[in-house]
Amino acid sequence: MAIERHENLLQELRDDVARLYDRHLENERTWYPHEQIEWGEGTSFRDRPWAKSDYDVADGVRSAIYVNLLTEDNLPYYTQTLMSHTPADHPLHDWNHQWTMEENRHSMIMRDWVHISRCIDPTVLEDGRRVQMHRGEVPTPDSLADLIAYVAFQERATQIAHRNTGAKLPKDDKMGRSVLATIAGDETKHYIFYRDLSLAAFAIDPSLMMAATARQLTRFAMPGTGIPGFTRHAVRIAREGIYGLGQFVNDVVEPVTTAWNIEGMKGLSADGERARDQIRGFVDAATATVNRMLEKQTSTTPRLA
Ligand SMILES: [Fe+2]
Ligand SMILES: [Fe+2]
Repeated sequence: MAIERHENLLQELRDDVARLYDRHLENERTWYPHEQIEWGEGTSFRDRPWAKSDYDVADGVRSAIYVNLLTEDNLPYYTQTLMSHTPADHPLHDWNHQWTMEENRHSMIMRDWVHISRCIDPTVLEDGRRVQMHRGEVPTPDSLADLIAYVAFQERATQIAHRNTGAKLPKDDKMGRSVLATIAGDETKHYIFYRDLSLAAFAIDPSLMMAATARQLTRFAMPGTGIPGFTRHAVRIAREGIYGLGQFVNDVVEPVTTAWNIEGMKGLSADGERARDQIRGFVDAATATVNRMLEKQTSTTPRLA
């Protein structure tokens, strides 16, 4: 029964995938990584080895650049996960190729900027890449419903992480700001595709999608568990106000669940209702934690007279 429902969803989504893919192509943004990179600003690392003082920015921002870039590097394994849920004769197959083609530019342009601007240690970055890509760790949602719900959250989260990192770069790093804004723009388009594909799936089988959303939300972690020192970096990134539980609750979960009309959804089975309660419980608990953290921050911040 469960397998039949998933197979049914996959087949019923054919037209929606084709429609959303067409819409994506109509708004295609063609950009060239080489046009945004100021090659003349670079210096050979042989002539001048990397030093932290080459680029003046907080450690939390360096952590965000490191984690965001390594996440983009891990693309082959995300493609593998997407393809594992898609038969060759389904329009999602084609979409996955388009998505992979677009995602592939992100690590290229980020690394060019990182090497020229010297914003993070290139040796630590390459050591991290080797370890992470050898591990090949990515979330592997176990059904199509889980997959599209997860990717909707993840694309939105990635968009926010790139956008907030860009806002923390030094004002005079125009190249870095432009690179991260361009990547965030791509992530926005990917988010919109998966948000609306999930919406179409909710219309087909609301209870199946509600259960998938509850599972993905309660398990959600930013991709990157295979990155050396991931927890340490995640803490620094959150402290810097770039991406943490607060951003997840307010900038990711809130807009996504509102777009899917989780609260107002009709026609749920008993399982679907249970899943919705789980989502509510998760959001309430996460919001309470965020509020506690905020109160603690305010009470420990010295007051100005
Ligand atoms: Fe990306
Ligand atoms: Fe993306």
